[in-house]
Amino acid sequence: MDVTIEPAGAPLRGSIRVPSDKSISHRAVLFAAMAEGTSVLCDVLDAYDVRSTISAVSALGAGVATRPGADGLDVVVQGWGARGPHAPAGPIDCGNSGTTARLLMGVLAGYPLAVRLVGDASLSRRPMRRVTDPLERMGARFCVSGSGTLPIEVHGGDLVGCDHTLGVASAQVKSALLLAGLHARGVTRVTEPAPSRDHTERLLPAFGADLVRESSTCVRLSGPQDLVATDVPVPADPSSAAFLIVAALLVPGSEVVFRDVCLNPTRTGFFEVLRRMGADITVVRSRRSGGEDVGDVAVRHSGALRGTTVVPEEVPSLIDEVPVLAVAATAAEGATRFCSVGELRVKESDRFDAIVGGLQAMGARAYADGDDLVVEGPARLQGASVSSRGDHRLAMAFAVAGLAAQEPVRIRAFEAVEISYPRFLDDLARLAAG
Ligand code: S3P
Repeated sequence: MDVTIEPAGAPLRGSIRVPSDKSISHRAVLFAAMAEGTSVLCDVLDAYDVRSTISAVSALGAGVATRPGADGLDVVVQGWGARGPHAPAGPIDCGNSGTTARLLMGVLAGYPLAVRLVGDASLSRRPMRRVTDPLERMGARFCVSGSGTLPIEVHGGDLVGCDHTLGVASAQVKSALLLAGLHARGVTRVTEPAPSRDHTERLLPAFGADLVRESSTCVRLSGPQDLVATDVPVPADPSSAAFLIVAALLVPGSEVVFRDVCLNPTRTGFFEVLRRMGADITVVRSRRSGGEDVGDVAVRHSGALRGTTVVPEEVPSLIDEVPVLAVAATAAEGATRFCSVGELRVKESDRFDAIVGGLQAMGARAYADGDDLVVEGPARLQGASVSSRGDHRLAMAFAVAGLAAQEPVRIRAFEAVEISYPRFLDDLARLAAG
């Protein structure tokens, strides 16, 4: 589906609750499936990626019932608990979701089953050895092609705990290893080069797990451990809010309040970066919910932004927001440098290449300097035709660029937004209507 975004004709105004957090939704469904008893998950993200996780745990024997909730899906999960999952009737399709595939490998590594995981064309290009190699050290076996990509068959069971030092900061890898560690004998410790999102560490204790955070980059647990059911509320996704936040910063006269946003500090690096650029962003009400920091965020159109340097240590806390931050950087005075963002090349698409190509097509100066992405502003963005490459975050980032452009921007394969934010265009239209 092609969508044409017209230059903003009116400020964005009002209050909005964007869809629920994708990372927390995946984890709540997976942990509830592993647990003994019945968990009630409120406001789970109702989008394609999380549906992949829900289908996967159903195929493995968890009982799942969904009904519409206030701000997402309410999901009741009867976990497989001590019984363990059963062998699915066929391969499990992880769709477009790297989180489903990688966390599921960690879960399945702990059980004596053989399960084949497949995914769509994008997921089937993404590197999986970063998960399978350390899980093999714990005793799991994988049938995997030479390219180290899906389809992969997992043969689990009889694991021993291991000390892992990761080469890249990745919450998906860390989480997979911790989930395997729950069913391994002895201590599993994961050390990362920089802190990645810590939803697993926050949510596992709610399901009764005992884990120790040795530092912001090191966590350990002792196995075996069983999970027990609990109820989980899921807050709004800061990564989805980021698109409309940047839109509000760029469209003159805008003033928007984002309600109920997850403000976990391992996720909010983009707030710090935007504030450094001169953005007017305030947390107006904050609270704790389900082990997470949650708040309402007020954003006002901010005059001239200025360029900044995003240093390597802050990259994991904003990796999914780089596409839309790069759009903000086109409006900023001076250069914005995103240091060491090579991981963008192995996301749902090669986001590095897509951002550079898309922004250049709109007349901005954007280029790669090794693994650094540089955007020099300010630029008057022109009309263009760009592709989402089937990547939800590119579709929405280019839509934000279209609002700030002088002429319409056409985005091909816009349906990719179904992966995390199906009603993105409706929400944008509602804010534009004031
Ligand atoms: C996620 C972790 C990140 C992020 C992805 C979701 C998660 O990936 O980019 O969108 O839920 O754990 P990496 O772990 O590969 O950095």
